[in-house]
Amino acid sequence: TGYVTLDRGYKNTGATKSAITFLDGEEGILQYRGYAIEDLAAKASFLEVAYLLIYGELPTKEQYAVFETAIRRHTLVNEDMRKIFDGFPVKAHPMGVLSSLVSAMSAFYSDIEGSSEEDKTDLHIIRLLAKLPTIATWSYKRSLGHPMNYPKNQLDYIPNFLNMMFSLPVEDYKIDPVVVEALNVLLILHADHEQNCSTSTVRLVGSSQANIYSSISAGISALWGPLHGGANQEVIEMLEAIRADGGDVSKYVDMAKNAKTTGFRLFGFGHRVYKNFDPRAKIIKKAADDVLSKLGVNDPVLEIAKGLEEAALHDDYFISRKLYPNVDFYSGIIYRALGIPTNMFTVMFAIGRLPGWIAQWKEMREQKEPIGRPRQIYTGATLREFTPLSKR
Ligand code: CMC
Repeated sequence: TGYVTLDRGYKNTGATKSAITFLDGEEGILQYRGYAIEDLAAKASFLEVAYLLIYGELPTKEQYAVFETAIRRHTLVNEDMRKIFDGFPVKAHPMGVLSSLVSAMSAFYSDIEGSSEEDKTDLHIIRLLAKLPTIATWSYKRSLGHPMNYPKNQLDYIPNFLNMMFSLPVEDYKIDPVVVEALNVLLILHADHEQNCSTSTVRLVGSSQANIYSSISAGISALWGPLHGGANQEVIEMLEAIRADGGDVSKYVDMAKNAKTTGFRLFGFGHRVYKNFDPRAKIIKKAADDVLSKLGVNDPVLEIAKGLEEAALHDDYFISRKLYPNVDFYSGIIYRALGIPTNMFTVMFAIGRLPGWIAQWKEMREQKEPIGRPRQIYTGATLREFTPLSKR
């Protein structure tokens, strides 16, 4: 069957050419369409970055206005989707709900009569960007047993999300610019990361010419895993466990050094590509200090996180394997300070990553990538004779 090169986990296999995101893991460099992540996080809005990733250039004022207005107009989710939503158990994890409902969007928004293929894709893109925050906040409200909030389209993207998350029938949520700015930075830093597990999933599913909703729903499922986006929830749970255990970080560093026997890894540490500081983690660590002090929040796990980082970075095990804090290490501490509950952290990652998934799906289609179909090296039985059931 020909010669197959085995590369478990695709550690050295390039699956595509891409013009979206540049990543240099040795130097710790990350750029979207040639713009430094540090610059974008400091100066751009999340929707500008979304436009940049998806369409390749920063929008002009006019392009931005059209894009943003379209998103505002599509934030409502088809009311019939609530019937599906109401069938979920109250305690359902919001990531499971999110991937299911995005998959369901392919049934609700599949066809747009009379429009060209390109117009359809643009409308699907707008719908995804507009509706994902609405769906995300539904699952949170449901977990509280609270009534859902509808979007208020006079609000900008992030304030609209915050309003749906936190407003109560008895009291409107007061939008705090510190919170909005912090979320803007976090969403931008999560917006794309080239061919990571969830993005490769989106491209692979899409390569069979499955529709964009199904492809992105698959990406959300991939993101949920604790080795990928699910790590941000695991980090906070780990830091809480260390705190409850008396705060001895060296004990946990020792456990992680023996990961092979203990099965314990330091969540938020290590990365497939970065063998140097994750540039996103650098920005997020600084933002955690800023945001907590501006909001007057004193979270004891921040000190534990810093202590753990310090201890790990001075340990030969971590030094020799080039394991550094990654994007998930400090992000949860900020989310928590903003009032976002732990089981919503990975949902926040999904909202941030959505433009990247969309951009990668679109590029995959435009480049007319062939169907993704890895090979294997077969290790099973050789040809055997069949024994009928009566004789087994
Ligand atoms: N704690 C302890 N040891 C680790 C860790 C860790 N967090 N990460 C890697 N190692 C060790 C691993 O045991 C292996 O050791 P050895 O050489 O003795 O066999 C070595 O470092 C290389 O690790 P690997 O598992 O071969 O590396 P990988 O590229 O396959 O995995 C990773 C990358 C991110 C899955 C892994 O570092 C990990 O499990 N980290 C914890 C989970 C996490 O924080 N994930 C978030 C990733 S960043 C953003 C995102 O995708 O959400």
